[in-house]
Amino acid sequence: MNIYYVAADPNLTGRDVEQRYLEVLKSVRKAIGLPIAVKLSPFISGLAHFAGELVDQGADGLVLFNRFYQPDFDLENLEVVPNLQLSTSEEMRLPLRWIAILRDHVACSLGATTGIHTPIDALKYLMAGADVTMTTSTLLRNGPEYLRVLVDGLKTWMEENEYESVQQMKGSMSHQKVADPASLERANYMKVLQSFRENP
Ligand SMILES: Cc1cc2nc3c(=O)[nH]c(=O)nc-3n(C[C@H](O)[C@H](O)[C@H](O)COP(=O)(O)O)c2cc1C
Repeated sequence: MNIYYVAADPNLTGRDVEQRYLEVLKSVRKAIGLPIAVKLSPFISGLAHFAGELVDQGADGLVLFNRFYQPDFDLENLEVVPNLQLSTSEEMRLPLRWIAILRDHVACSLGATTGIHTPIDALKYLMAGADVTMTTSTLLRNGPEYLRVLVDGLKTWMEENEYESVQQMKGSMSHQKVADPASLERANYMKVLQSFRENP
């Protein structure tokens, strides 16, 4: 269930937006018996709490995150233009952090979407705690046969690193499993700035 919605109405509070999700979910839950996965916006302030509310209302899975397509400006014609940009691996950092944070706090499946372009990208999401990883942009760029490259690369990495199953590594780098859980929470601003090297 993908609620693709930009909260541009100044009369809506953050809670109003969350209520909208909860009400749609409640109606769908009432109408069907199938498992429901809710694809979330990254623009929710109290996400850890809200994720629990969605599960309480009957969500069987959460998918992180909806990737809102941002319009561009055409300055010659003074128009706002839609312009589909495919993702890059760097974009996976936001859902990666949140899957790691939510994994130990919500009792539902977690799906990861955005920025999977290599087998390592998929592995990171699995280790954060995703049950499912999804990819679109790289298949549009490289064709559906690229799935074979992703799956083979994943298998090779697992063999080289002596993992016997996906289950064994799933969630091994979640919030509660990493040596320094606070590194997923704090802004780490000074450290990040100090890590910058131009043209490394
Ligand atoms: C052409 C195109 C069509 C898409 N259609 C849908 C859709 O119908 N429903 C949906 O939930 N996501 C849709 N998405 C979003 C993808 O499922 C995915 O969440 C997003 O592209 C981020 O993953 P990626 O980095 O692998 O591209 C679409 C993406 C693209 C590029």
